[in-house]
Amino acid sequence: MSGLFLSTGTAFAAREGLVDKGSTIYVAGHRGLVGSAIVRRLRADGFEKLLTRTHAELELTDQPRVRSFFESEKPDYVFLAAAKVGGILANNRYPADFIRENVLIQTNVIDAAYKSGVKKLLFLGSSCVYPKCVPQPITENRLLTAPLEPTNQAYAVAKIAGLEMARAYRVQYGFTTVSLMPSNLYGPGDSFDLQNSHVLPALIRKFHEAKQAGSPQVTVWGSGTPRREFLHVDDLADAALFMMENYDAEEIVNIGSGEDLTIADLAGLIQQVVGYEGQIVYDRSKPDGTARKLLDVSKSEALGWRPRIDLRVGIRETYECFLENCAAVNGGSRSIPAVGPE
Ligand SMILES: NC(=O)c1ccc[n+]([C@@H]2O[C@H](COP(=O)([O-])OP(=O)(O)OC[C@H]3O[C@@H](n4cnc5c(N)ncnc54)[C@H](OP(=O)(O)O)[C@@H]3O)[C@@H](O)[C@H]2O)c1
Repeated sequence: MSGLFLSTGTAFAAREGLVDKGSTIYVAGHRGLVGSAIVRRLRADGFEKLLTRTHAELELTDQPRVRSFFESEKPDYVFLAAAKVGGILANNRYPADFIRENVLIQTNVIDAAYKSGVKKLLFLGSSCVYPKCVPQPITENRLLTAPLEPTNQAYAVAKIAGLEMARAYRVQYGFTTVSLMPSNLYGPGDSFDLQNSHVLPALIRKFHEAKQAGSPQVTVWGSGTPRREFLHVDDLADAALFMMENYDAEEIVNIGSGEDLTIADLAGLIQQVVGYEGQIVYDRSKPDGTARKLLDVSKSEALGWRPRIDLRVGIRETYECFLENCAAVNGGSRSIPAVGPE
């Protein structure tokens, strides 16, 4: 089958998979960064019976409404990409909201999915569920072996509860669940809100605004030496479908690029892509965070999955998406709306 080129410019090779094309697939959180990428991926592969509900249409913390949605719609497969997600500031300020909403969303969806006869559910953890101090690259068996990073502990504990719930429903009820642990994601649909965004989109916006304003320098927080790993969200979506079709076991699976780079190298790359000609200055009074965070991806590789999108190409696409949305919202002061159905 020939490859399909999507609006993001990312090439997907459509393939015949194990999930029947006539299946009804519910993508929870389909307007988010991950959910919108999964919807693009499924559409590219020819899945037409996609079930989506906006947050306003279906409040996933509301158990009776979630139950009745599953009972009436009866999806065959579920990608659970709805969650309350935020940056360090939000996690620090609203830990109660992060733990309550995430525990409710995943509990309601996993339980209703099982009770309504869903064939398989894919749950998404996050690399932040691993302990703060663990040997790098991080293997899956490091989960629950040491204390967590305190700044997002409430979120991480909620996610760990979700991983355990997915595993427990498998063990006790025979409900087929799989859980993936993605590294830092970026791509179309990212948030460029400086208060709430991750380092990669925040740097895109900073360099862009400095270029527009003709500023002689851009200040990057910290020393620039910490190493981080980034995965394009379309690669994650590809992995999600791959694992939905090919993986069936209770052990969690890391999904990453398998490569990291320093924040300084990342800043240099983004500077080139944006075409900013000023200087980069490091504000060493700001915290660096963990020195290195890299997932060990040997398990996903052994299962037959590898990422395909080069970081420079992915950053260029993300910058283009930022520019388009900037025009749309007059300066890009909002998050980019997800690419996907309304
Ligand atoms: N982004 C990353 O770098 C990253 C890395 C690793 C793992 N993950 C995991 O991937 C998953 C999705 O993350 P994301 O980055 O795609 O987040 P996101 O862009 O914030 O999207 C989350 C989606 O969930 C929806 N949602 C939130 N609360 C809801 C509720 N109570 N009821 C119904 N819908 C609700 C949101 O709708 P509204 O916006 O309308 O509220 C949004 O569409 C999360 O489980 C996260 O842990 C993300």
